[in-house]
Amino acid sequence: MNMFGVDIGGTGIKGAPVDLDQGALAEERHKILTPHPATPEAVIDGVHEVVGHFGWTGPIGVTFPGVVVDGITRTAANVDAGWVGFDARTQLSERLGAPVVVLNDADAAGVAEITFGAGRGRGGTIILLTLGTGIGSALFVDGRLVPNTELGHLELHGHDAEKRASVKAREDEDLSWEHWAHRLRKYLAHVEMLFSPDLFVLGGGISRKADKFVPLLDGISAEIVPAELQNNAGIVGAAMAAAKL
Ligand code: BGC
Repeated sequence: MNMFGVDIGGTGIKGAPVDLDQGALAEERHKILTPHPATPEAVIDGVHEVVGHFGWTGPIGVTFPGVVVDGITRTAANVDAGWVGFDARTQLSERLGAPVVVLNDADAAGVAEITFGAGRGRGGTIILLTLGTGIGSALFVDGRLVPNTELGHLELHGHDAEKRASVKAREDEDLSWEHWAHRLRKYLAHVEMLFSPDLFVLGGGISRKADKFVPLLDGISAEIVPAELQNNAGIVGAAMAAAKL
């Protein structure tokens, strides 16, 4: 069965029909740049364009880079503040003319990874971290998601952790792999101190370059593996959520 997923990110809005039996994109994804400022109206226009590209008419899953409770977006660290308290589910559903489910981007990626990717068939405590514009987190206990964890905003040495250890921080500050991995290792050690996970899955586009930094993450007891669905995990997880509508 195919279902449609859209992933709203700080830099791009991307979507595709997803083959839910394979956990893979059924067609090449369509991506547009996230408008700036990323107001609800502008982003919803973008989602409409991405969905329209495929002429999709059925239910749609949409990820959002912030806390989402009952279709309402509650935080907006890397998008316009107009999203705080915004009824995203209703507005998207009206604009797209279809049932819509809205969920946190890292939660969506996590569900996709533990079903089809790096966490497949694993029990215990698993934490997926998406490393991108921000740091997103998805916490699983024996396959069950605890939604809307915001571990990217843990405080580390007096800073919001994602401002120090995200991929954006690496790019903005032009950090070497060693320097960035050092920050990431400190961050993982902090998360490990709090949750003692069995497994860390590291996602986001940077997971393609895992060999450059995962070997540098020493001193962490939990196993650390790169995500397997890489940048498509959010789209796949969004489509999985839409299948439940
Ligand atoms: C947001 C999270 C999101 C993450 C990745 C953070 O700034 O607070 O909700 O999952 O960025 O986009």
